[in-house]
Amino acid sequence: MKKRVAIFISGGGSNMVRLVEDMQAGGHAAEPVLVLANDADAGGLKKARDMGIATASVDHRPFKGDREAFQTALNEQLDAVQPDILCLAGFMRVLTESFVAPWEGRMLNIHPSLLPKYKGLHTHARALEAGDKEHGCTVHLVTPKLDDGPMLGQATVPVLEDDTPDSLAARVLVQEHKLYPAVLRNFAAGNSDFISL
Ligand code: GRF
Repeated sequence: MKKRVAIFISGGGSNMVRLVEDMQAGGHAAEPVLVLANDADAGGLKKARDMGIATASVDHRPFKGDREAFQTALNEQLDAVQPDILCLAGFMRVLTESFVAPWEGRMLNIHPSLLPKYKGLHTHARALEAGDKEHGCTVHLVTPKLDDGPMLGQATVPVLEDDTPDSLAARVLVQEHKLYPAVLRNFAAGNSDFISL
């Protein structure tokens, strides 16, 4: 039986597309069963439907900051498809311990920095401000502490003299699209060896 994977997105979903493409490429121990967004207008939802994947959206705004109620609505969508693995791919809502705890050890996230450096937002601008010579992205297991769980892989890129946050983000995104599918393919096959690109 293939492992069932649900993917949470908030925007364009370019990482989600790479995960789905790799799972549909064959020889993979997992299959995508749901792509969910916290915004019905998220561009990635149409991309997922075009790839034949079921989609759902749970807008966080009507919950007016009530994270537990928002998460209950997320769980209703997940209960309907019974996933084994949950991948956060550009999902921009912070999930609390009550949601994360049941998923510990089987929820992955991609973060656009070389963790533990630059947890949180604006990672590219912060790396530039610090004068870093290299930067990158990390795939890690999600724990209740933001951007803090065990790392499963990292990809490194050089920081160039004339880089801006946008040019650096674009270089990192290319690596994200290689790292996340490689880590998920490994992880779904039961292998958590650290992948370094
Ligand atoms: C990616 O850079 C990801 O690391 C960050 O948000 C961006 C989302 O990109 N969390 P996409 O929606 O997967 O294209």
